[in-house]
Amino acid sequence: MGFFGILMQVTWWVGVIILSELAAAAISSPIALPNCLDRCGNVKIPYPFGLSEGCSIDPNFVVNCSQSFGQFQPILGNLRVTNISLQGQFETMMDIAKDCYEQGVHSLSTRLSLLITTVNFTVSSAQNKFVVVGCDTDAYLYGSQQNESYRTGCASVCESTRYMVNGSCSGVGCCEFDIPIGFRNFTITSRSFDNHTKVQSFNPCGYAFISKKGTFNFSVDFLRSLQDKEKMPMVLDWVIGTGTCEDVHNKSSYVCGGDSTCIDSNTKSGYRCKCKDGYDGNPYLPHGCQDINECEGPKLCNLTGQGCINRIGSYGCFCIEGYHSDRTAGVDLCVTNQSSLQVNLLIGLGTSFGALFLITITLVLFNVIKKRSETKLKKKFFKKNGGLLLQQQLSSNENNVQNIKLFNSKELEKATDHFSENRIIGKGGQGTVFKGMLSDGRITAIKKCNTVQEGNIEQFINEIFILSQIIHRNVVKLIGCCLETAVPLLVYEFIPNGTLFQYLREENEEFPLTWDMRLRISIEIAGAIFYLHSAASSPIYHRDIKSTNILLDEKYRAKVADFGTSKSIAINQTHVTTLVHGTFGYLDPEYFQTSQFTEKSDVYSFGVVLVELLTGEKPVSSTRSEAGRSLSIYFLHTMEENHLFDILDDRVKKEGDKEEVIKVANLAKRCLHLNGRKRPTMREVAIELQGIQKTFDGQQNYEELQFSRSEEIEHSNVSFTSTGSFFEIASTSSSTVLPLLPFKKI
Ligand SMILES: *[C@@H]1O[C@H](CO)[C@@H](O)[C@H](O)[C@H]1NC(C)=O
Ligand SMILES: *[C@@H]1O[C@H](CO)[C@@H](O)[C@H](O)[C@H]1NC(C)=O
Ligand SMILES: *[C@@H]1O[C@H](CO)[C@@H](O)[C@H](O)[C@H]1NC(C)=O
Ligand SMILES: *[C@@H]1O[C@H](CO)[C@@H](O)[C@H](O)[C@H]1NC(C)=O
Ligand SMILES: *[C@@H]1O[C@H](CO)[C@@H](O)[C@H](O)[C@H]1NC(C)=O
Ligand SMILES: *[C@@H]1O[C@H](CO)[C@@H](O)[C@H](O)[C@H]1NC(C)=O
Ligand SMILES: *[C@@H]1O[C@H](CO)[C@@H](O)[C@H](O)[C@H]1NC(C)=O
Ligand SMILES: *[C@@H]1O[C@H](CO)[C@@H](O)[C@H](O)[C@H]1NC(C)=O
Ligand SMILES: *[C@@H]1O[C@H](CO)[C@@H](O)[C@H](O)[C@H]1NC(C)=O
Ligand SMILES: *[C@@H]1O[C@H](CO)[C@@H](O)[C@H](O)[C@H]1NC(C)=O
Repeated sequence: MGFFGILMQVTWWVGVIILSELAAAAISSPIALPNCLDRCGNVKIPYPFGLSEGCSIDPNFVVNCSQSFGQFQPILGNLRVTNISLQGQFETMMDIAKDCYEQGVHSLSTRLSLLITTVNFTVSSAQNKFVVVGCDTDAYLYGSQQNESYRTGCASVCESTRYMVNGSCSGVGCCEFDIPIGFRNFTITSRSFDNHTKVQSFNPCGYAFISKKGTFNFSVDFLRSLQDKEKMPMVLDWVIGTGTCEDVHNKSSYVCGGDSTCIDSNTKSGYRCKCKDGYDGNPYLPHGCQDINECEGPKLCNLTGQGCINRIGSYGCFCIEGYHSDRTAGVDLCVTNQSSLQVNLLIGLGTSFGALFLITITLVLFNVIKKRSETKLKKKFFKKNGGLLLQQQLSSNENNVQNIKLFNSKELEKATDHFSENRIIGKGGQGTVFKGMLSDGRITAIKKCNTVQEGNIEQFINEIFILSQIIHRNVVKLIGCCLETAVPLLVYEFIPNGTLFQYLREENEEFPLTWDMRLRISIEIAGAIFYLHSAASSPIYHRDIKSTNILLDEKYRAKVADFGTSKSIAINQTHVTTLVHGTFGYLDPEYFQTSQFTEKSDVYSFGVVLVELLTGEKPVSSTRSEAGRSLSIYFLHTMEENHLFDILDDRVKKEGDKEEVIKVANLAKRCLHLNGRKRPTMREVAIELQGIQKTFDGQQNYEELQFSRSEEIEHSNVSFTSTGSFFEIASTSSSTVLPLLPFKKI
């Protein structure tokens, strides 16, 4: 049964499924600039704030994170920060002004002042109130804003607690009022009329303070107990710049990132940024606003038979298999195909034979029509999903290699047992992977994406086409696809032994993760990426290299998976400018800043994988110290201090050849160079790793290796054929050309 009556306008997608995304899923999108710390103690520090000048928008937003009394204290200007929100506020603790009396003798200071030294911050008018508590109290708030000054106050007088109402601050025992906007400088004073002599028994002090709305709820107890309280939370507003959105929108100083909007501050001097509806994240980062996968949150398409599909910036509901839409009541409802038949049948039995006969005919007709519209729908999807284009492309393929099979939806339904829950082998942010058995007995991994993305048909088809042409022993093979369903399905070869990420963490007696094994795996990965980069008519960048994307086959050979985000590019381009994709911890900082993905961005991610192989550590871990949360930084830092051997995996330390380990570590360091141009190419990486293994095998001496590595020679043949060989290069120029990909550019 196909998808009958799907209502939605199905848009285009280029999806990625992360087979085992457990590690990545735990890390939400970054809030700070890459390679910047994002917390101080337990306070999160989102950009535009930062712990150093390079990490914050300007010096006024630098948080000084210093340790005192064994705790990290974030200090901003002259204020200690307790919480920063991206809605333009942060919190601090403000003293309470008190005047206390004991037997009529004055005991405490009654005046306190605060001048917020940073001009970009003001006391929030919307979120604070000025509160006075006492029964013999008269308190004032003075403020000044440049040359304008402001003064307000209230008095609270009472003889007993009798008329006081818990929760009400309206003049008996407690009074409060709002404060004006835009203040940075104020003084609070509190006085008494009779030195509290008459109310001493239940109210020894008068209190005055500014506090965050909703945090102070008056109760009779406070007349006494506030004496022991030092501070109350106060909220400050922060804004960017001094102009309105209109003033800055076209200027280079405008800081709001992609998919965000600008909001004027309430003083009209300065503005804030906010992610658009359907997006979430830090709007101050260039690509901080990320699409919300509404389908993962509280159940939205929750009516019987409905399924949810995420779109960029929104979501939609559709009828799942076995249901079709019914718009009779003016609402989109999904009803079972069967139930409508059953109802018809019941009516039929309940009336007469004649009616039954009629109904039988109706049913037959209904089924015929249904079949027809199902077929029509499949055709429609097929066309929409670019099937015709792909067919055309396959038939115009000169080499006539039919590498990709077009499956029909029935076949894949059967293979996955109707996409049964217990066939699921992986679930990522963008979709689900099912294990399936084809009719010829082949085991496959079938990807069903739930992300629908605006895009274009040609690009998507080109992508499928290119992927189908990749034949490399260390690349997971795309076997075919199905374009007859609402979202296309991709069929891959099944790789049985999990991911490198898991392998690094599990004991495996049959195939222990020895140093040689690690070296071999790194060579295999490097070879596969190099192969993709040097693809003949257009290089293919992987864009999401990470240990969870490296699968292991029955012999624990590496297979690079997940080219969903790869985009082949024309040969005359050296970089592609796109939305930043990738996984935190592996993301090239240069790419993050410029949005330009180059081949060196893949090199960076590979460098992180190399470090994982060396250290066995996770790419991002909160168990390491603050500064070492990101493995790449931690590693570079350790290398700098010459402590490499402290962080190596125990096995590597024990079994690895010291010289080899150092060579690999140095190579990783070069791959992680902050400047992409200084990183080696994937070709150099592959050759160098191969060389390290060879020296070990004693099959090639060092000079030869040096030669082949540094050559940029024309018309020479370099070929590696050894047990671990992964590619044969017929190098005719400095840019290696692999005549292996017989595809045409569209
Ligand atoms: C940060 O605060 C500490 C302690 O308050 C102080 O010693 C240090 O000078 C401050 N650093 C900066 C850069 O302001
Ligand atoms: C900071 O404020 C947010 C909401 O404004 C709240 O959810 C969070 O718990 C607060 N964090 C701390 C450490 O107080
Ligand atoms: C209140 O106390 C102050 C000094 O502590 C004293 O000068 C003043 O006379 C007292 N006023 C009353 C009404 O007791
Ligand atoms: C702060 O306000 C007080 C009066 O409330 C005033 O004397 C002082 O000059 C102000 N300081 C600044 C820097 O505006
Ligand atoms: C404050 O001072 C500025 C110049 O220093 C002047 O233009 C402005 O009118 C003054 N505002 C008030 C309310 O006096
Ligand atoms: C007000 O609250 C205090 C405790 O916070 C309680 O002891 C007292 O009985 C309450 N009074 C009324 C009238 O509810
Ligand atoms: C404040 O306290 C009163 C009684 O103690 C309670 O009824 C009320 O809900 C509280 N208000 C808030 C905002 O907590
Ligand atoms: C903070 O205020 C100063 C002075 O008005 C201004 O120069 C600076 O650009 C502001 N900082 C930000 C991030 O808007
Ligand atoms: C911004 O620039 C565009 C064209 O570059 C112009 O159409 C628009 O009116 C400008 N907006 C503002 C607020 O100046
Ligand atoms: C069902 O979905 C609707 C929106 O589609 C939502 O408003 C409603 O809260 C959901 N109900 C439940 C129980 O989740």
